[in-house]
Amino acid sequence: MSITIGELLVDFSRQLVSDEILQALVDLARTRGVEAAWSRMRSGELVNSTENRAVGHIALRCHADETFMIGGCNVVADVQATLASMGEFAQGISRGTVTGSTGKKIRTVVNIGIGGSDLGPTLMFEALQSFSSTGISCRFVSNVDPSDLAHQLVGLDPSETMVIVVSKTFTTSETLANATAAQAWLSNTLGIEGSAHHLVAVSASADAVAASGVLASKFFPMWDWVGGRFSMGSAVGLAAMIALGPDIFQQFLEGQRELDLHTSTSFDATNAPLVMALIGLWNRNVLGYSTRAVIPYAYDLRNFPSYLQQLIMESNGKGVRADGEVVSYPTTPVIWGGVGTDAQHAFMQFIHQSPDVVPVDFLGFAQSSTGDHERQTMLFMNLIAQAEALAYGRHVPDAPHRSFSGSRPSTVIAAPTLTPRVLGQIVALYEHAVFFEGVILGINSFDQWGVELGKELAGALLASPPEISSGSTAEMHSESRFLLDWFQRHRGHHSSSSKRPEADL
Ligand code: F6P
Repeated sequence: MSITIGELLVDFSRQLVSDEILQALVDLARTRGVEAAWSRMRSGELVNSTENRAVGHIALRCHADETFMIGGCNVVADVQATLASMGEFAQGISRGTVTGSTGKKIRTVVNIGIGGSDLGPTLMFEALQSFSSTGISCRFVSNVDPSDLAHQLVGLDPSETMVIVVSKTFTTSETLANATAAQAWLSNTLGIEGSAHHLVAVSASADAVAASGVLASKFFPMWDWVGGRFSMGSAVGLAAMIALGPDIFQQFLEGQRELDLHTSTSFDATNAPLVMALIGLWNRNVLGYSTRAVIPYAYDLRNFPSYLQQLIMESNGKGVRADGEVVSYPTTPVIWGGVGTDAQHAFMQFIHQSPDVVPVDFLGFAQSSTGDHERQTMLFMNLIAQAEALAYGRHVPDAPHRSFSGSRPSTVIAAPTLTPRVLGQIVALYEHAVFFEGVILGINSFDQWGVELGKELAGALLASPPEISSGSTAEMHSESRFLLDWFQRHRGHHSSSSKRPEADL
């Protein structure tokens, strides 16, 4: 019940699945056509049916001599060309040949993006920071809450800062509003012309970027066939690449590629992402466990639960099947979590004794990047202890409050150390598990229509500010009207209007 891929150990032995059940699940996967679905994705078919798009994140880690055909073109050439220009730019910054408008060396990169345009690069930078020797630091701004940008800009000198605006669509209002504010911060010191040398854009919409005024030489493309939550190996990861260096980024891609090759070898009980998907379905759809916790015993992976929330819940939190039928069964469980050992002193009580069973994914490493063996050993022993306690429990006669039921499932994902390659393997493991889960559930994992209504309503409210009781806000229901009135009374005085930010940077 454990599978090794490169340095990665994926240990399913504490799951509530016997060999017979696993075989039945593999048969189910076969019946649901996972292999054919994989090859449809791999051959560039429009598997994202509701958006009429191919799904090509695997092309991001193909070697230059490989092919990934989308719309009759081998996209690997574009991918490689973009990687090369990202690498050149990243090296230029770290060597000081690419500078800001004053000629000073860039010391900090600020990534402005949200969702997949934030969570992936944040994860990569935090997880691999200890490998970096560039001396360039990275900060991430995602929230339209003004405190986020204000907090991240503290202590920065505009003349030594590069701002990277990352948005696949280049229409995301939070990102554009933050980008406008960041540009104002740059140009206050450097002037409008000077600020242009400090602004970079990553997007699938070259036209929108050009219209925003970002210099053509500072634009890096991604493509509509890369989903935001699958995009950290594209130019979306540019900030992380600048801070970590192109070699580290390349090793991350190699790790992903290793997992891609493993996944396409055989679609049976030796395929780690497939087994992960099948066990996930067993826990959710057969045993009825409605949440799943992700607990990395690694501070460097502290944002991995948030990253997975988007990857898994935005992909498979669907209520309609790909064939248009409403689903009559649960789809993804709620994903939540936090780092060990902190989790043990916060929510593990619930996971050990609550009537709600929560399957857990533990992640851990034998060695620390700090070289401290003693505390790393403590950390890993705690991981084993938690998995053991959940699996086998303990019965204390006459003391039910001190007893543990056991039979609480967990998976352990381990590696000797968290290297760039291992991070790539872990990310691709989950990416492909999400894909298989979606295929077996019969849903499209690659759209996210469920986020649209909220966006639209927020846009309508901004287009017709609360003080004007007309237009769409007047059509809000009474509960929202009540909140608008409350906001109106408490918002205080402000100078600028609350209009939707312009696309112009
Ligand atoms: O609103 C959801 C979403 O579309 C995510 O799927 C995406 O990662 C995020 O918004 C950001 O989108 P963009 O990169 O286009 O700004």
